[in-house]
Amino acid sequence: MTTTPLKHAQVLISEQEIAQKVQTLGHAINEHYKNSDKELVLVGLLRGSVLFMADLCRTITKPHELDFMTVSSYGSGTVSSGEIKIVQDLGSKIHNKDVLIVEDIIDSGRTLSKVIEVLQTRNPHSIEICTLVSKPSRREVDVAVKFLGFEVPDKFIVGYGLDYNQQYRHLPYIGEIGL
Ligand code: IMP
Ligand code: MG
Repeated sequence: MTTTPLKHAQVLISEQEIAQKVQTLGHAINEHYKNSDKELVLVGLLRGSVLFMADLCRTITKPHELDFMTVSSYGSGTVSSGEIKIVQDLGSKIHNKDVLIVEDIIDSGRTLSKVIEVLQTRNPHSIEICTLVSKPSRREVDVAVKFLGFEVPDKFIVGYGLDYNQQYRHLPYIGEIGL
């Protein structure tokens, strides 16, 4: 079997820049939750958040759970639609917990606003968002991001969890493939 070689992804955010940012975000998160007596749970959205989650959780000193959910947005290619479907739900209850959603990228904001809507019905103590990347110029739905890594212009990016057709997630940096 042959594998088509991937297009080269030009570096936009280097591995070192990501590592530094993850530390900064971790400090801010530790500060934010230090006086809360509620249980903390990090909720990662699969699959894009996996690399970010793995690095971020190691900077958070407060004891916490890791949980994941898979949502699919009805839509195709590089654009997400307004509706989401929960393909795999969280493994644990979030009632009365501090929920920190960990996301790879916010584009239109539709996915996260729906996820928050769903999670709110379960009566957590709080819900905040930590996203590594945001594309503010693409926003269609307002979502309040408490912890933000990088803002990028309207380009399709890959790497460090972000995919194009399920490829490129393993790159240690974030790059652009020029679609
Ligand atoms: P939203 O619902 O439009 O905010 O889309 C968010 C989701 O779209 C992210 O979780 C990604 O899975 C995907 N996405 C948006 N922009 C990019 C990109 O530039 N590269 C890879 N995935 C992206
Ligand atoms: Mg995603």
